[in-house]
Amino acid sequence: MKWIYLAAAVLVLGAAELVAQDVFVKIPADLPGKNPLEGNSEAITAGMGAYRVRCADCHGMDARGIRGPDITQVWVRGRTDAALFSTIRNGVPSTEMPAHPAPRTSDMDIWRILAYLKTMAPATAAGPSSGNATAGEGVFATNCVGCHRIGEKGGRLGPDLSRIGVARARAAMARQIRGTMDDFRTGFEPVTLTAPNGQEIRGVKKNEDLFSVQIMDTRERIQGYLREDMRAVTNEKKSAMPAFGGDKLTDAQLDDLLTYLESLQGTTAAPAAGNR
Ligand code: HEC
Ligand code: HEC
Repeated sequence: MKWIYLAAAVLVLGAAELVAQDVFVKIPADLPGKNPLEGNSEAITAGMGAYRVRCADCHGMDARGIRGPDITQVWVRGRTDAALFSTIRNGVPSTEMPAHPAPRTSDMDIWRILAYLKTMAPATAAGPSSGNATAGEGVFATNCVGCHRIGEKGGRLGPDLSRIGVARARAAMARQIRGTMDDFRTGFEPVTLTAPNGQEIRGVKKNEDLFSVQIMDTRERIQGYLREDMRAVTNEKKSAMPAFGGDKLTDAQLDDLLTYLESLQGTTAAPAAGNR
């Protein structure tokens, strides 16, 4: 009997290897440098459907970006079809950009989506933004650095912004600053804990389960609390980031600030998950 199991095991292993080869080896080897479906009208229609279902939540119906960046500008910024293909296939590690692995997403699915995106891409780069990045850096130093890091400098209550210019559309950053963004960045949801003596601890939520909640308080201390030790754990509706209305930042200052934020493209890879 034993040899039967052995033979079966060899067969299974062999099959697994074939599958593995198909997924991990064959595809990159065959990958064309240029989108083979560019301009193909059937591919564009199919790509539009797939884009709307799978990408529009983050990048917007018009691909100009919501939580994710504007991806109509990628070609004029010098990205190649092959590089875009691999970003979509592999995602961007430790950011919200998900991987789209085979077999659920085939090579052709990705090329179809790119064929559709190409129809929305401008032929020439948008003119330089109106704001002044140097002035914007000053606005940032006055209003923002207490909570946000850029490189090695700044606070930690809010997300690291070292490469926010790659990660977010300008319009989304404007909404965040003016206080009209309607959701919170994961890991930074505002929360208030009320102790039995009535004392309140405010902060952002780092982790929670049925029994406990871990927060970073406004003094940047990370601490865990048992729910049963607290009188209440309240998820707040307003961000831990203050809204900067017209009384705090003029439109011109906001313009400068956004131009500065757009210039923040990071150094190398995405920051490690623990830093964000
Ligand atoms: C859950 C949100 C989310 C979804 C869904 C999503 N993306 Fe992204 N995407 C992002 C974020 C955030 C980034 C920026 C990552 C970073 O910080 O570098 C990004 C980056 C990209 C980039 C790189 C842009 C550049 O400048 O190089 C491309 C291309 C892209 N996404 C295409 C897609 C496509 C196509 C889909 C659908 C198949 C998709 N994304 C689905 C959030 C998302
Ligand atoms: C009191 C702390 C605090 C200050 C001051 C502050 N922020 Fe924030 N910021 C946060 C927190 C917390 C979040 C994440 C919560 C959320 O999504 O609302 C955030 C989110 C953001 C985001 C979105 C990041 C992302 O990954 O989507 C941007 C952009 C941003 N802030 C820019 C600014 C700018 C520009 C200023 C100065 C004008 C500023 N912040 C001032 C705490 C702060």
